Amino acid sequence: MPASPDPSDPPGCVQWPLPQPWPPQTSELRLGVMASGEGSNFEALVAACREGPLRGRVLQLVVNNPGCGAQGRAERLGIPCELVDHRQHRSREQLDGALIEAFAPCGVDLVVMAGWMRIVSPRLISAFPSRLINIHPSLLPSFPGLDAVGQALAAGVTLSGCTAHLVNTDLDGGPILAQATVPVLPGDDRNSLAARIHRQEHRLLPLAVALAAARLRDRTAAAADPSPPAGPPSG
Ligand code: GAR
Repeated sequence: MPASPDPSDPPGCVQWPLPQPWPPQTSELRLGVMASGEGSNFEALVAACREGPLRGRVLQLVVNNPGCGAQGRAERLGIPCELVDHRQHRSREQLDGALIEAFAPCGVDLVVMAGWMRIVSPRLISAFPSRLINIHPSLLPSFPGLDAVGQALAAGVTLSGCTAHLVNTDLDGGPILAQATVPVLPGDDRNSLAARIHRQEHRLLPLAVALAAARLRDRTAAAADPSPPAGPPSG
């Protein structure tokens, strides 16, 4: 898992915040992951935990599509995987209740939506306040929702990328943790642009997880010590 930009990336690939320095990682994070498709971001997270630079462990994967690529990767990587099929649930709330139950036994600190292609309900968001992270293949707030890569191509943008953000009730609208840009090159189609974005996502997501954990730590510390920060010396 490269911690810095890859020299083989085309000009225009930039990650922000820069990958170095990473926030201090004071304890091993317990991570849950949700995936619907190929699962390459899930695997990148597992690799970042096992090989660095992320101090964490992926304890549980949940998938909603039987036989999806993520499920096969979990088997190969030895990560427990539970199927929570949205077709078996009557509402988003019910589906999200099943997701909460799937993560409950392992007591996860953070849950990462790594290619989760369902809208989540307030039930899941409030179960993991400031602890639910999503990765989206566009420079949000541009092109939220489905087919972000196709939307970017149709709009004729020359720069695209990906965004990792905390999840709130706005579609792809929560506080941004980190972003990476990629150029849109002449002749690009959905596949070529998505592949370029994917490479950046695999680096960005582990950093975003570390940033979300640091944010939580800062908030907890501020709540424990509510005294205002010292002002400039008087006189
Ligand atoms: C990723 O590009 C991710 O950003 C996108 O799905 C892909 C999953 O790839 N997510 C969304 O579009 C969510 N709105 P992966 O299964 O190989 O990780």
